[in-house]
Amino acid sequence: MIVLGIETSCDETAAAVVDDNGRVLADVVLSQIEEHRPFGGVVPEIAARAHMETIDSLVHQALGDANIGFDDLDAVAATGGPGLIGGVIVGVMTAKAVALATGLPFIAVNHLEGHALSARLVEKDRVDFPYLLLLVSGGHCQLLSVEGVGRFRRLGTTIDDALGEAFDKTAKMLGLGYPGGPLVEKAALNGDAERFSLPRPMKGRPGCDFSFSGLKTAVRHAAEALPAGPLQGGDVADLCAGFQTAAAETLVDRTQNAIDIFTAEHGQARTLVIAGGVAANGALREKLGRLADVNGFQLIAPPQRLCTDNGAMIAWAGIERIKALGMDGATDGLDFKPRPRWPLDPDATAAPFAGVKA
Ligand code: KG4
Ligand code: ZN
Repeated sequence: MIVLGIETSCDETAAAVVDDNGRVLADVVLSQIEEHRPFGGVVPEIAARAHMETIDSLVHQALGDANIGFDDLDAVAATGGPGLIGGVIVGVMTAKAVALATGLPFIAVNHLEGHALSARLVEKDRVDFPYLLLLVSGGHCQLLSVEGVGRFRRLGTTIDDALGEAFDKTAKMLGLGYPGGPLVEKAALNGDAERFSLPRPMKGRPGCDFSFSGLKTAVRHAAEALPAGPLQGGDVADLCAGFQTAAAETLVDRTQNAIDIFTAEHGQARTLVIAGGVAANGALREKLGRLADVNGFQLIAPPQRLCTDNGAMIAWAGIERIKALGMDGATDGLDFKPRPRWPLDPDATAAPFAGVKA
């Protein structure tokens, strides 16, 4: 079985071809960073237009890289939400057009489910349901118990900013540019995390919710308290290191609570997966690795390329849906409406897609 996956929900236009053995036959990602850089964040209108200009050629490139034609596909999957709606519409309409022209089944994939199942694409034998998932991206920050395909229980979410959003806003404030996550991580390598005293929001409280907007504000106050004049490189490095360490310690505290809840419910299951763009951060991976060790869990972190937005995770989520529900059960109608909000856990209120808007 071979599936084409299309991803257009934020600022990456992506198309990939994946088979049911988890072989990635093609994986093309076109970043829009240069278009958004002058604005210091994602501008939804620019994103939608850029997706529209490139998605056709990207799909062709993916099929070419995989050395196949539309005839060789079994289904076409696209992110159906949540995300910046203009972009989601472009991907969904492209997939529907392919489905209509070829007769292939169309599958609308929840972007968060794409991130959630990406670990099973790379670690097929090691990631069985149920597992605990920390999903940290530019638009989302959640702890979920993943019980099966389409079966999620949300244990916690952010009450304000997503963690990637906090990284991006902190970077912008410190003049580092966009996107901020990788730049903050790089600057933090030379920084002293102890120099500034920054809060660990929510630490020690029961439950698994997050809050990052106070941390971001504390970084701003610390920067403003420095002698007037442009920030020095050493100051920026120390602020980045302090911010990253505070964020990591907060994640560890919240995830420990989630591990306790998950273990009480699922006894023997011992897998913690991290996914989403922020999961690319080496310092966070290291701290979460230690947390997993202490609790007797294995930490599964997909490779960086699969952490940030890509089409392979969307194709794979489509394949997982087909395997779990059969082709008819997995197929969506061509009247599917793109969804700006789409919670994984239907019992949890839909969080708005925070995104990183300029
Ligand atoms: O999953 P993703 O590609 O898009 C969304 O669905 O949001 O995540 C993008 C986010 C951005 O906020 C970016 O700054 C952050 O992931 N990010 C990182 C790193 N690489 C990307 N944050 C921290 N450290 C990184 N190395
Ligand atoms: Zn994402």
